[in-house]
Amino acid sequence: MKLSTLFIGMTSVCCMTAFADQAMQDTAEAKGLIKQFGGTLKGELQTAMKAGGPVNAIEVCNTKAPGIARDLSHSSGWDIARTSLKTRNPTNSPDAWELGVLEKFEERKAAGENPEAIDYAEVTELNGQKTFRYMKAIPTGEVCLNCHGAEIKPEVEKKLGMLYPEDKARGYSLGDIRGAFTLSKPL
Ligand code: HEC
Repeated sequence: MKLSTLFIGMTSVCCMTAFADQAMQDTAEAKGLIKQFGGTLKGELQTAMKAGGPVNAIEVCNTKAPGIARDLSHSSGWDIARTSLKTRNPTNSPDAWELGVLEKFEERKAAGENPEAIDYAEVTELNGQKTFRYMKAIPTGEVCLNCHGAEIKPEVEKKLGMLYPEDKARGYSLGDIRGAFTLSKPL
């Protein structure tokens, strides 16, 4: 083997490893942020549900969820949000890349993967900028059915109808993929 070939070979192996290391680091960072976001949200939701039931807790999802995502985005330098194939708030609608990933998540779940563990990472272009993007599926738990299930109490229904006239985020069953956390970081 010529020395130059060996050199090129070694360089590419080295760069591939560096790239994989970086992607693993970014993925770990994204997962940490999701833990923070999801944890804070769950805490707020449970407290509000205990204090005044689902009607009271709508407030948490309506104002606190976007607020927590915004604060965490500012402090971390990532863009952090939630999205879904059937959104409640049209602001959370997926872009073309997110739509493709969400559809793949449904295929993976149908093929038997546990939704708790479904995620996806890719380095891609976003607004002309090389960007690391990461999504993680959010499964539907018991408490979620109060506001995203097939049978929603009339008083909850009424408030949701007032706040979200374009609501599509209903009719979910336990274990369905409700949506996904979606994070991006310019590289
Ligand atoms: C008390 C009612 C309520 C409960 C309980 C609730 N949600 Fe929601 N959810 C909402 C509201 C209201 C929004 C719209 C938030 C916004 O305006 O961004 C929402 C939005 C979302 C979104 C963002 C995408 C979209 O549809 O706009 C996801 C994902 C989501 N909820 C998942 C869950 C999961 C998972 C659970 C259970 C752990 C849950 N929700 C429990 C009311 C609720």
